[in-house]
Amino acid sequence: MPDNPLAERQAVREIESSPIPRRYGRGWHCLGPSSMFKDGKPHAIEAFGTKLVVFRGDDGHLNVLNSYCLHMGGDLSDGTVVGNTIACPFHDWRWRGDGVCTSVPYAKRIPQGARTRSWTTREINKHLLVWHDPEGNPPDIEMPRIDGAYSDDWSPDWAWCDAIIENHPRELIDNLADMAHFFYVHGERKGGQPGYFKCVFDGHTATQYLESGSDDVEPTYPRDEPYHGDPEKIDGYLRSESTWNGPAYSVDYLWWRFPDVGVLFSVLFLAILPIEPGKFRLSMGVLTRKRPDLSEEENAGRHQNNFEMLRGATFQDVRIWQRKTRIDNPLLSDGDGPVYRLRTWYDQFYVDRADIRPQSVAHFEKQVDTRHANEVWAKELAGNQSE
Ligand code: FES
Ligand SMILES: [Fe+2]
Repeated sequence: MPDNPLAERQAVREIESSPIPRRYGRGWHCLGPSSMFKDGKPHAIEAFGTKLVVFRGDDGHLNVLNSYCLHMGGDLSDGTVVGNTIACPFHDWRWRGDGVCTSVPYAKRIPQGARTRSWTTREINKHLLVWHDPEGNPPDIEMPRIDGAYSDDWSPDWAWCDAIIENHPRELIDNLADMAHFFYVHGERKGGQPGYFKCVFDGHTATQYLESGSDDVEPTYPRDEPYHGDPEKIDGYLRSESTWNGPAYSVDYLWWRFPDVGVLFSVLFLAILPIEPGKFRLSMGVLTRKRPDLSEEENAGRHQNNFEMLRGATFQDVRIWQRKTRIDNPLLSDGDGPVYRLRTWYDQFYVDRADIRPQSVAHFEKQVDTRHANEVWAKELAGNQSE
């Protein structure tokens, strides 16, 4: 007997997949840890359908320009930093951080129109960000400060890695509302399933609050607000507060209780950088809060281990994102989170400001009832153990 005889008589449903939009999201995009760009050399970054060059001039400022030289298309990222300019390797034209050509060494005059695109940049949380806006307006999104990035109580810099994903970032953003994948993708079906799962969307932020192991505990703090208490005092064995700030900058505060060694408190950072319409770079960074009773060396080792662990978990998702198809009409069940509502939130970054729909920025919250799923998973776990 099929589980659902009715389904046999229904028409077959097809996946709908509209063409990938040519437009890239409006927002701050992280190019990497700022320390990576401070060696006096030009750095090439493929992004937004072109190549960018990042360089630090003598004044210490990190500049981002379009990398292809307006003279005859030379690649500035293959050039040399001279003072506060980048010198093109082809005919030595010099380009300043604001995009102005300051010298054509072999000519009497600098020609009209010798100004290239300079990207608005910002350094925050030891990240270098660029602002992308198809309308050309200045930034209107405040980025959150990550205190751990500035504190001696945390690892001194980001542990970092990148992956290339051939898909649209929308398919990755869906993850924020995806409750069920934790058990199937990350849990190795051994546990780790969320007991508490809530999404809160508001303005340009979308947050997921998740806890495991606190279901039977009387809450000692609000589960759906940022937690600022003693890391050792989280209610369950895992707590996560994960927020997209705009379309491309995600900060996930993670508390993880391990038997005997206490709570590991870390920040898992994700950045999306569109390369071309159907391809983006996903960067992952990790900071780990030090344990005061350990030496610097021991803390560095612990940070590295944490990074490897979180990289392993993130790449479980990456494998899914690299292989999944673009789907406009996900077929959701009552056990799923608010994927469509999250996409409504996400849409705001792909239209002109004047066209943002009120529901895209309206406050929205939804807690997913995880009780049935957890009963099912508990049974599956019990079955696994008896094998
Ligand atoms: S192409 Fe850059 S100086 Fe000629
Ligand atoms: Fe995941």
